[in-house]
Amino acid sequence: MDSRQRSVQQSPLLRQQFGDEFIWGCSTSSYQIEGAVNADGRGESIWDRFCKNPGTIGDGSSGAVACDHYHQWPQDLDIARSLGVNAYRFSIAWPRIQANGRGKPNAGGLDFYSRLVDGMLERGLQPWATLYHWDLPQALQDEGGWANRASVDAFLEYTDIVSRHLGDRVSHWITHNEPWCTAFLGHLQGNHAPGIKDQKTAFQVVHHLLLSHGQSIPVIKHNCKDAQVGITLSLHPILAASPSMADQAAVRRHDGLRNRWFLDPLYGRGYPKDIQELLGDLAPQIQAGDMEAIATKSDFLGVNYYFPEVVADDPGEGIFQTRLVERQGVSRTAFQWEVFPEGLTMLLDGINQNYKPSQIYLTENGSTYDDVVEADGSVNDTLRRSYLQSHLQATLQSIQLGVPLKGYFAWSLLDNFEWAEGYVRRFGLVYVDFETQKRTVKASGKWYAKFLKE
Ligand code: FCB
Repeated sequence: MDSRQRSVQQSPLLRQQFGDEFIWGCSTSSYQIEGAVNADGRGESIWDRFCKNPGTIGDGSSGAVACDHYHQWPQDLDIARSLGVNAYRFSIAWPRIQANGRGKPNAGGLDFYSRLVDGMLERGLQPWATLYHWDLPQALQDEGGWANRASVDAFLEYTDIVSRHLGDRVSHWITHNEPWCTAFLGHLQGNHAPGIKDQKTAFQVVHHLLLSHGQSIPVIKHNCKDAQVGITLSLHPILAASPSMADQAAVRRHDGLRNRWFLDPLYGRGYPKDIQELLGDLAPQIQAGDMEAIATKSDFLGVNYYFPEVVADDPGEGIFQTRLVERQGVSRTAFQWEVFPEGLTMLLDGINQNYKPSQIYLTENGSTYDDVVEADGSVNDTLRRSYLQSHLQATLQSIQLGVPLKGYFAWSLLDNFEWAEGYVRRFGLVYVDFETQKRTVKASGKWYAKFLKE
């Protein structure tokens, strides 16, 4: 922690310290909760296909049923309301809107999201719509998916349909959720859909995702006059494994890949030169005007924060020559992600100093632990509760440092399908029994509700 952070006063945590305008929410995403994958004309998504490949999902499951939110949404929104949040972040499944990713919209899909949005408004929940939280129509993947520049045009068509249909009621729009994950988990590590393992493809995918973000901003603004549009990035404070010069340089490279590769172009600086040099021929193909489009002004930056990354210099590790190191003696979630709330303050303060976004929203933050249902049916998730508390404290510290942080969304409202892990990793403030679909508010959810009501 630097001296600026140390100078901030620690005070008891109260909602009112965040100001009256602060947005309090929780987040979900379509494929992780909806289920009903064949309902009302929905087409196949890359996750439906990916989950069918043996060995891809830890517990062999898929999102085919998930939380059955497609049918249970009124009760889920009731629960969200009962927590006292005033906003709800959800995502729209593109294959429900256009089964094959292009062409005439599917009325069944549009109606579902229309009802869902009305349900939010009836309950005093401000709708925050994410357009792309990873469930690409499989038909587009069959044409190359995000590696194919034509997907950018398809995304604009989809965005136009959705924003025209919901823009009278939805004013907060997130174009993409975590392009790093789409690109690098989906196209380099291959442990997420579509399961490709190719470095050059991954960088081309980033470029097309960012381009589609920038080009979609005027589309949304045209259809929704009051729209507030942003993108959500997964960002990490990067720490050095040792004070050595070599490890410090490794921090710079890893930060370049994890954070700057996304933030720099969004804020008009183009892709970072040092990383481009390391990439050489792996760098993406860029056409005239692309970088200007990517730098189209957003209204806010969405940040998802979970954990820091600690790196060491390692000449044996590919072109970036960095190796992730696990710090010893630290607290970790069941995912083995390090619990480091100070990292949130460091991260937000750094973004604010370097890029000066006009508004930041923390669009995801949360933790997974092995929850136990007690004999009386309660779930006493004290570790998740303390993760939430400590990260809210770090959120407040960021605001006190001058970060224009305007809202906090807990990940997640419900336990859900956690991608490559399946149902084993529970992140919810609300426990879901996947056999019976019974929902139980956990101690963490009760704490959040109490904090928000006091
Ligand atoms: C984020 C994703 C979200 C969820 C959480 C745990 O990277 O955006 O869907 O999987 O991690």
